[in-house]
Amino acid sequence: MVGRSPKPKTDGTSLSRSEFLLHTSIVFAASVVLVNTFHGDGEPLAANVALALIGFSLCHSMVRWLGPTFIKAGFKGCDLSKPHRPEIPECMGAVCAAVYLLVLIVFIPFPFYKDIVAATSGGGNRDVVYQVEHVQQGRLLHRFPHSKLASYLSAIISLQTTALLGIGDDLFDIRWRHKWWIPGLAAIPILVVYFVDFGVTSVVLPIPLQPYLGELLDLGPLYYVYMACVAMFCPQSINMLAGINGIEVAQSLVISFLLVLNDALYLLTPYPHPATDSHLFSLYLLLPWIGVSVALLLHNRYPARVFVGDTYCYFSGMVFATVGILGHFSKTLGLLLVPQLANAAYSAPQLFGLVPCPRHRLPRFNPRTGLMEPSVTTWPPGRQPRPLVAVALRLLARLHLLRISEDEDGNITEASNMTLLNLWLVWRGPLREDRLALEVTILQLVVGLFGLFARHCLALLIFKEDNWALASATEVSS
Ligand code: UD1
Ligand code: MG
Repeated sequence: MVGRSPKPKTDGTSLSRSEFLLHTSIVFAASVVLVNTFHGDGEPLAANVALALIGFSLCHSMVRWLGPTFIKAGFKGCDLSKPHRPEIPECMGAVCAAVYLLVLIVFIPFPFYKDIVAATSGGGNRDVVYQVEHVQQGRLLHRFPHSKLASYLSAIISLQTTALLGIGDDLFDIRWRHKWWIPGLAAIPILVVYFVDFGVTSVVLPIPLQPYLGELLDLGPLYYVYMACVAMFCPQSINMLAGINGIEVAQSLVISFLLVLNDALYLLTPYPHPATDSHLFSLYLLLPWIGVSVALLLHNRYPARVFVGDTYCYFSGMVFATVGILGHFSKTLGLLLVPQLANAAYSAPQLFGLVPCPRHRLPRFNPRTGLMEPSVTTWPPGRQPRPLVAVALRLLARLHLLRISEDEDGNITEASNMTLLNLWLVWRGPLREDRLALEVTILQLVVGLFGLFARHCLALLIFKEDNWALASATEVSS
């Protein structure tokens, strides 16, 4: 990000010559791969990568072309961290989501190619003579893995509903108390599939608790409440760690890469693993998401030429919730969302109204230095934080977890807004916007890598055996 070479010269809405050549070659090469996969047995992973590349090119080109159209339609926002606050297109996550959903839909025949051939007796050949019992069984369709198709379709339904919520929020600025529970309802299709297809509601208990509560604790219906909460938390958590160029997409990309790494750990085991199918499913959803997100990041990185909007944040969170729930690793997902969890917990006093919460809490741009500083919240004249809140704020300030200002009488007059981005600036001092985004993205990566290490190595210290082994024996989710 720092010291980046100048952007290619275009009129702002058309592709440069080199971009045009790049995208044409990508689409051509990917199309060749797609056509060839049908000569083998479908080769779904190769087809998925090819479609992810096409998604990248399509998304990159469409975001560039559609900028003025979005502005004309009223989808625009001021970049608050630039000297002249330029107005740029907003809600470009909608383009990303649309391209991604199209890619997922086009991909449907590939993972089921072998099953379609088996179920229709040779690629749908109608001239085959059927035995009477085959006719009664309906073209062998009972052999088709309907449950896997149901998983895939339920993911698409939940994601589409979330895209609608995001676009609605970008259009109408829906209130928090109205919008936070909508992803929970959008998750119903995936929860139903989880119930029918997997249905595991037990969690493995750590060794010290096992003498009292046993090895497994069955949470029953509470497990579904927990998964609905995951679906509600993920979209909002990405949207709350936002407000500087590139950060929404960069954090999503880091989480996606770490999830892909986690999937690869299962898929690269030399022996067949019971969780292989779930992790393949996760890859099928994540690789195209990485493709379209990289394309969006190229436009949204500092200095941003488009904003991603709430649509991107919600949609991205829902992609993670969907793969976590249907891939049966929602707790592992939690380890990759530690910065988002910390940001939400730190924000709680402002979200619950204990501390004033302005409309925007993104860091403040200082036009004199060109650097970002912690933004502040102030108390209206004559008003003070409640005594207990004041004690807590002073304690946080002493621990260097907050910056406060006091008047001569010792009353708190302002406090830095309680977000991870502002806290990082309290610790690191004023930073340029791209530097701040880079450092927080690296933090996300380091914490996530440690989370995966803890999941696969340290977990053995408090759990009897790793889920790799447990999954085959007891089928618990990780
Ligand atoms: C959430 C945060 C809010 C933060 C905002 C920034 C909570 C409860 N809400 O609100 O504090 O200020 O995200 O996205 O945590 N913008 C920039 N530069 C960027 C990205 C956004 O200036 O790189 C500004 C633009 O004016 C843009 C606006 O933020 O139009 C988008 O804000 P919006 O997504 O509507 O805010 P919320 O999601 O409601
Ligand atoms: Mg937002």
